[in-house]
Amino acid sequence: MKHLIAPSILAADFANMGRDIQMLHESNADWVHVDVMDGRFVPNISFGFPVLKAIKPLTDKVMDCHLMIVEPEKYVEAFAAAGADIITIHYEATNHLHRAMQQIKATGAKAGVALNPHTRVDLLFDILEEIDLVCLMSVNPGFGGQKFIYSTLQKVRDLKAEIERRNLTTKIEIDGGVGLQNAEVLLQAGADVLVAGSAVFKADNPKDMIDKLKQVGAE
Ligand code: DX5
Ligand code: ZN
Repeated sequence: MKHLIAPSILAADFANMGRDIQMLHESNADWVHVDVMDGRFVPNISFGFPVLKAIKPLTDKVMDCHLMIVEPEKYVEAFAAAGADIITIHYEATNHLHRAMQQIKATGAKAGVALNPHTRVDLLFDILEEIDLVCLMSVNPGFGGQKFIYSTLQKVRDLKAEIERRNLTTKIEIDGGVGLQNAEVLLQAGADVLVAGSAVFKADNPKDMIDKLKQVGAE
């Protein structure tokens, strides 16, 4: 399957959010990656329901919500109601991952799990059937514009091998420090979805950059 590109609006111009969403809407981006931070799970605060609600009607692109928050179970229904199509919570933020996956799917959203750079992929293997998306963090979550952690590549390979061995449809998403410099090696390792914040929004022409990222790997 062709890979997907999910620009992260954490790197958008918040004073011109409508304009930036319109740009993504007109672009070939597949998903809109929405980074929610609570100042507790990560040392930064971004935005929450009101922003998601405001941007949802501006595009029919999939809203891919990455919750970097403690006690994510408390807010699953509210994120679904605000327009999340995919709800990804952190492995490190819940004691009841299996239950949380069921809870997310009960809202009609797809269920994702994000792993911090230090968290091993095999910790998910016992419930991999329940997970629609695994988001491998390739930076420490909390901020855009950080350097890609290369040890993520082996995690992608190991996770991909297990997904293929079991014939699952679970997608692998890579989040943090992704751009043209590493997209190809990530796709070769088995990534399905590339999140790109700075690479897209700091580019001279964001739409062109999305096209370039989409074309990686095509001859
Ligand atoms: C980091 C966020 C990322 C971030 C990626 O905590 O989860 O989605 O926006 O930004 P870049 O692509 O700039 O590393
Ligand atoms: Zn993210």
